[in-house]
This record gives sequence, C-alpha cells and structure tokens, in this order.
Amino acid sequence: MTDLFSKFDPLIQQREALLATGVTDPFSLVMEKVVSPTVAICNGRETILLGTYNYMGMTFDEDVIAAGKEALDKFGSGTTGSRVLNGTYQGHKECEDALKEFYAMDHAMVFSTGYQANLGIISTIAGKGDYVILDIDSHASIYDGCKMGDAEIVAFRHNDVEALEKRLKRLPPEAGKLVVLEGVYSMLGDIAPLKEMIRVSKEAGAMVLVDEAHSMGFIGEHGRGVAEAQGVIDDVDFIIGTFSKSVGTVGGFCVSNHPKFEIMRLVCRPYVFTASLPPSVVATAATSIRKLMHGSNKRAHLWENSKKLHGGLRALGFQLGTEEPQSAIIAVIMPDLERGAMMWEALLEEGLYVNLARPPATPAGMTLLRCSLCAEHTSEQVDEILGRFERAGKRAGIIG
Ligand SMILES: Cc1ncc(COP(=O)(O)O)c(C=O)c1O
Repeated sequence: MTDLFSKFDPLIQQREALLATGVTDPFSLVMEKVVSPTVAICNGRETILLGTYNYMGMTFDEDVIAAGKEALDKFGSGTTGSRVLNGTYQGHKECEDALKEFYAMDHAMVFSTGYQANLGIISTIAGKGDYVILDIDSHASIYDGCKMGDAEIVAFRHNDVEALEKRLKRLPPEAGKLVVLEGVYSMLGDIAPLKEMIRVSKEAGAMVLVDEAHSMGFIGEHGRGVAEAQGVIDDVDFIIGTFSKSVGTVGGFCVSNHPKFEIMRLVCRPYVFTASLPPSVVATAATSIRKLMHGSNKRAHLWENSKKLHGGLRALGFQLGTEEPQSAIIAVIMPDLERGAMMWEALLEEGLYVNLARPPATPAGMTLLRCSLCAEHTSEQVDEILGRFERAGKRAGIIG
C-alpha cells in the first residue's frame, strides 16, 4: 500500500524542525476569551488583537448582537437546507437587500462563505472555451474557483497593467474572458491599480470580477471598496465579498448589475449544493452592513490607525510590505520562517497577536507578520502596539 500521506512528509518535517527549536506553535493558538474586537485572553494573558481582519470592529456591536439573538429565538439555530429548497428565510432576503443597498447594485447573492462565493461564481460563469485571466498573487479561493471550472487559466504578474494587457491581446478576440482582480491583496496589504486594469480589460472585451474582501466597509467614500475609491465601480461586472472581515460574522456574497444574474441561483453548484447560513448569522450580517453604510467616522479613524502604525514600525526599522499604508493591513517582512516564528512568539509574550504567514500563501517565498488594524483600536493602543513591537523586535534580533 502506498501511504497517501507521504506527500506531506516535507511539510511534517519542516513543522517538526520548527517546533524542535522550542517555539510555540504559531498555527494553533487558542483564544480563551474574547473581550472586545481588539482584546482577547490568550495563554492566560490579556492580548491586543492585531491580526483578525475585524476592520470595522462590528463583532461586539450591540445592535448586531441583539439582531443575532432575536433571530436565534425566532427562527432557530439553523436552516438545515439549501437556499433553493428550504434554506431561504426572510433573513437571507433581508441580507441580500442590505447588500444591494450598500453597493447600489441590482442583484446580490449570499453564499455560506466568501471562499464559496469565489468558487461558485468563477467556476460557473467561465466555462469551456472561455478564459480566466488572474493576478498571480490571487487568493486561494480564486485559484480553486479556476480549478473547479472548465475555462483556460492565464496568470499575469502581480498588479502589472502591461502584463495584463499583453495576455489579453494574445487571446482569441471572440472568446469569453473574465478578468479576476482583488481590491486589496491581503498578504502585503497593497491595492490594485483597478482603474487602468479595468480599462485594458474592457478594451479587450473582457468581463471583470473584483474581490473586495479586504476593502469592504473601509475603503471608498461609502466603504464599497477600491473600485469605488478609484471611481470605476460602475465598470465592474461582479464584486465578491465576505462577511468574515469588516462585516464581523461569516458568509460571502456576489453583487452585480448583470440583467441575467439571477440565473446563478440555479446553476452555481457551491450555492445550490450546500446548506444556507443560519438565521442568526444573516441577521447579524444584515444589521452590520446597514450600520457600515454610516461608518465614515470609523473609516477615518481606521485610516489614522493605519498611518500611525505604518509610520511607527518604519521608524523602528522594520521592513514593510508597502512604501505607504494602502489599506488596513500592514505586513512586516521577516528574514525567514524560523526568525518569523521567534518574533511572532516574542510579540505574543508581550501581549500582542499578529498573523504569521508563510509560503505558499505568501508571494516570493516571504515570511510575514501581517498586522490588520481595527477601527476600534484606540490611538493609545496603537502606541502600545509600537512599544511591544520595539521590545519584541530587539529581543528576537530583528531590529537593532
Ligand atoms: C481575497 C479573499 N477572498 C476571499 C476570502 C474568503 O473569505 P471567507 O473567509 O468568507 O471564506 C478571503 C479570506 O481570507 C480573502 O482574503
């Protein structure tokens, strides 16, 4: 018998070697108690959360929690069914109405996760003989959506408009084309030049899908994302998003103005062949989305936090993923996995949680400490975070 697990041996060895150094396992931390969107108890210690993608801090919003409790009482704990059978409740419709209003778009379709939204939309709309043209640094759910479908896949260099244009020009003019972009790329926290990319895509007759997972709620005047901020949202055919970041719960969606969009509810397998979100989840999502429509003060404070952390880390001598803060994600580049894990642990001991990211999730084989800021972080907390980075960085030998 061939052990089907033997293909994982290199990863098992890498993990064992890392743990043999005595470092805490960075991928199995338990949040023993969550006190607020910015504070939790980890290993018995009060810890500032700087790696949760809870950008707008909606997880403890009073109205959001009240809506979830009411739905749990009135509609029960789960739907036990697909959206196309018994799994569409009033709350799912209300959630889709909130999304349509939030984006000012005609159609909204809620999925059980953002992962499934990408999987479903990409694999369904791009079929045999069509092309999906995607940024090489795209999220795993975008790649998996491509794998699940029958279209030809063409990747281009990260955020490179010329490379995108060149690829598009090589494709048969009459073929169906879907260009897939992200507003914010979550590893380095950099934004896409959507305006130029959408222009060249449209010139080539392609449809455009933008995943705004890391920009919804925060970027753009109304929080609609990078496409809104760059004035091109009307040229985007499909926006994908998630409830697991700014919205503060779980779920995914696609919004569109395409006149035939509703047919997706019958043909999109990751929508049809899975159970719908529990009533409490869609109630919290709808309430949160409606509140995010009026979140301009929080958006302004989050920008302040992002600028302060970026400037402060830079002044301390850390190498960062972007020259300027472009989003609520600040990536701190580590020399290698071992020292990245040491620094991660030193920060945890200081009472600060960040995400450790490593290949294959990261571009160019980098090890990163990814910090994601929250609109609920106070300015004093950001000062505290910088102090903890300085102490941990010196202890781990990352800065002098
Ligand atoms: C760009 C992007 N798209 C989609 C997803 C998937 O979202 P979800 O957590 O709702 O599955 C993520 C989550 O990390 C993401 O970063």
